[in-house]
Amino acid sequence: MRLLTAGESHGPAVLAVLDGVPAGLAIAPADIDVDLRRRQLGYGRGARQRIERDAVRITGGVRQGRTTGAPIALEIANRDAVNWERVMSVEPIAEPPDPVTRLRPGHADLAGALKFGHDDVRDVIERASARETAARVAAGGVAKALLRAVGTVVESETKAIGDVAGAVGFDREAVEASEVRSGDSERSAAMVAAIAAAREAGDTLGGIVALRAIAVVPGLGSFAEWDRRLDGRIAQALMSIQSAKGVQFADAFAAARERGSAVHDPIVVRDGAFTRSRNRAGGLEGGVTNGQDIVVEVAFKPISTLMKPLASADLRTGEPAPAHVERSDVCIVPAAGVVAEAMLALVLADALCEKFGNDNVDDLCAAVERYRRRLHPIDQRR
Ligand SMILES: Cc1cc2nc3c(=O)[nH]c(=O)nc-3n(C[C@H](O)[C@H](O)[C@H](O)COP(=O)(O)O)c2cc1C
Repeated sequence: MRLLTAGESHGPAVLAVLDGVPAGLAIAPADIDVDLRRRQLGYGRGARQRIERDAVRITGGVRQGRTTGAPIALEIANRDAVNWERVMSVEPIAEPPDPVTRLRPGHADLAGALKFGHDDVRDVIERASARETAARVAAGGVAKALLRAVGTVVESETKAIGDVAGAVGFDREAVEASEVRSGDSERSAAMVAAIAAAREAGDTLGGIVALRAIAVVPGLGSFAEWDRRLDGRIAQALMSIQSAKGVQFADAFAAARERGSAVHDPIVVRDGAFTRSRNRAGGLEGGVTNGQDIVVEVAFKPISTLMKPLASADLRTGEPAPAHVERSDVCIVPAAGVVAEAMLALVLADALCEKFGNDNVDDLCAAVERYRRRLHPIDQRR
């Protein structure tokens, strides 16, 4: 499965092309729009989210409600684009817009301008912007539909915002009802207060998202080659999210300080199949799914656009200058959870197709069914 995204933050649309989805999968724009809407929510988002009403337009790969096996083309219009027509004009205009030259520390501004030779940081901002994650979430909606066909569900919860943190319970109703996507109502209120205080101070906050995939097909990924290890592929996909700075499976950093006897999950036989009596591995051993829930966390740094800007420099003159300020989010952790779900779903759907084939969804489901029967060796030996 391959995903390519395109489009600028304030251009006409963001686009995703997802190739390798089996034919015959039922999909409707509404299935995707649910997650696009969830990505826009969350206390701490900027004014942009009041302008956008993200909805997908499927322009390829789906006919009569089912995938055809051709690349799936997804388009999400940027309603804000009408306010940026001059700045984002494809054709050169007589009076060019003022360039952005004051670099934001922590953003892609300086790295991108130097690398590509831009003297207007706008050329970097437009694509480094996490508006691109709308395309990922749309593609993730298709991946989730495929995973649902074999019973796998991916979900997320905010575990921490700033220094407000606690254990997660993945109570879906409570999580979705919370403005910060935390299932604990007291913690949720404290997170909202922390974001409000950061905004008041012209500052920003990061945090941690917890992710879980349940009813995962065992045997996805492989220990045999470095680039087939699924834990590595999941980590890469999650780390690729704008402002993600760390990934851990289960409580890996705490486990690194403990003894092996406390960390490894004893193997037991239940209902004729091998399983584990706990899940400190986070659902993968040897880079292969073991049928336990995949449990993974992603750390997101605080947003780098600050209303009280840091000291910086001007790209053109090199003179000291405060960083560029533009409309921005204060905290994106709740939205990042929805993006992270999409990335995890895309990797799992890809690994599923790799193992069971991606021509036709019924063939894939039948192959999974047959394989699951084979995973009950104790019954078969009797
Ligand atoms: C959902 C989401 C929304 C974001 N919104 C903003 C924003 O409004 N302002 C900002 O400066 N960064 C925002 N970011 C983060 C930047 O896109 C990111 O910091 C930048 O691309 C540089 O990449 P890096 O932080 O991974 O190094 C957002 C990230 C996500 C996941």
